[in-house]
Amino acid sequence: MKKDLAFLFRQLTQGVYIVGVTHQKKDNAFTAAWVMQVSFNPLLLALSINPGHSSYEMLTQGGAFSVNVLPGSREDLAQRFGQPATVNKLAEVKWHRGKTGAPILDDAMAYFDCEFSHECPAGDHVLVIGRVVAGAVLDPDALPMCYRDTGDMDGSSRLYPDEFI
Ligand SMILES: Cc1cc2nc3c(=O)[nH]c(=O)nc-3n(C[C@H](O)[C@H](O)[C@H](O)COP(=O)(O)O)c2cc1C
Repeated sequence: MKKDLAFLFRQLTQGVYIVGVTHQKKDNAFTAAWVMQVSFNPLLLALSINPGHSSYEMLTQGGAFSVNVLPGSREDLAQRFGQPATVNKLAEVKWHRGKTGAPILDDAMAYFDCEFSHECPAGDHVLVIGRVVAGAVLDPDALPMCYRDTGDMDGSSRLYPDEFI
């Protein structure tokens, strides 16, 4: 059943993003699929983050985050930023600071630069809401990566319960 639930939830259409954070002269970024637009006015994005990630405190303390949209061809970046920050994940990757100071990847097909607005608990994750203050399409011809096509890169199949609870 665990595998069935993982397969069921992968039917939800999701992209793959690199979320950049910065705090006290340190920068980091992690791969995320649980990102969505939640308001037109103001322009708000929501991100569901595991509060155990090192990026979580950096995001809330730093007060900003970037959402870099990955093209389908950059599985290497999804893999790289899906690891814990025991290595400097941003080394050897071309990036620059956005308006908020959060890292923007040069190889993203588009990016959103967000100011932290508020957060609310969401089970074993935290829903972070950010106000979009800048952004751009960097490669209008690129096709976005689909989370479903990353297989079990995030190892999430073991995290599903055995049945509906
Ligand atoms: C394809 C993919 C999607 C992921 N989606 C999310 C997500 O939406 N939210 C989240 O908290 N972690 C997600 N992760 C896991 C984090 O990227 C991973 O735990 C990372 O090591 C956290 O980095 P940090 O400790 O440097 O913050 C995803 C990983 C992959 C490979």
